Amino acid sequence: MLDKRATAIASPNIAFIKYWGNRDPALRLPANASLSMTLANLQTETAVQFDNLLESDQIEINGNPASVQAASRVTEHLDLIRTLSGLPSFANVCSLSNFPAGAGIASSASAFAALTAAASSAAGLDLDMKQLSILARRGSGSAARSIFGGFVQLFSGETDEDGYAEQLAPAEHWHLVDLIAVVTKEHKSTGSSAGHLLAPTSPIQAVRVQDADRRMAICKNAILQKDFQTLAQIVEQDSNLMHSVMMTSDPPLHYLEPESISIMKHVTRWREDGLAVCYTIDAGPNVHCICSFEDSHEVERQLRSIDGLLDIYRCSPGNGVALNTNN
Ligand code: DP6
Repeated sequence: MLDKRATAIASPNIAFIKYWGNRDPALRLPANASLSMTLANLQTETAVQFDNLLESDQIEINGNPASVQAASRVTEHLDLIRTLSGLPSFANVCSLSNFPAGAGIASSASAFAALTAAASSAAGLDLDMKQLSILARRGSGSAARSIFGGFVQLFSGETDEDGYAEQLAPAEHWHLVDLIAVVTKEHKSTGSSAGHLLAPTSPIQAVRVQDADRRMAICKNAILQKDFQTLAQIVEQDSNLMHSVMMTSDPPLHYLEPESISIMKHVTRWREDGLAVCYTIDAGPNVHCICSFEDSHEVERQLRSIDGLLDIYRCSPGNGVALNTNN
């Protein structure tokens, strides 16, 4: 008998060139291409078992039953996989992350990458990496990138089939470090999905999207050439552009806290003083300090002297999604 169960592990990623806003919200086709680094050490492990005795999906996240909202998003994703595989059964889903959700560390990326790999394998689908990436994107846009390790680009795509990610360079290519300065572990009040819908209400969004290919090209080159100064400039500009869109949408979204701004200013000064470090911030207040491995210990030491910091996560470039074959 076919064992309809599988477990997968995936890591979140930090976008160097971010997407914000979807050209097609239902398909989660992003308004612009994006580029990220997959993060080692942080991970979500998800087990899925289809069981024809179940009368609904049973979803547990970090030891608790999923909220109605989270559960319906998971069920919607499982419905896609049920349609593709022809398997009608409901599933038990158990997901465990080793980092806080909803605070600007892309938990939906690792969660939907792991769910996609585990559920499609459990359902007997034999998908290649591109197909997994397309399917993961339907669950969460940034999850398409977490299918791959290292440095990853996500095409914006005109149709479902061409909205996928691919690896630009493997994790070993460049030993950058992401020091995530955690200023809050609270769940953000406006999640990315709601935020994406507001993006077109900002007059800055059209300009940001129009300029995205230029930023992508500069960022790709900087990564391939391991040119930190160029990377730093474009990563910070991209993050500031996205937050400008957020702050000028209707209603405005303010993800940055005073502590975030303070860290951004410190990072700018440290770089002027010669450290290879830059900042980037997702849809939350926590600051990702991207640095060279060589300077990362000094940056961490300096970060620890700033008031109001709850924690620092240290992440190197990590691997893509993997099925856990011990299960
Ligand atoms: C700011 O992938 O979290 O992190 O599809 O609603 O889950 P959903 O959105 P999500 O959006 C990512 C937004 C971002 C930028 C990025 O990672 O590119």
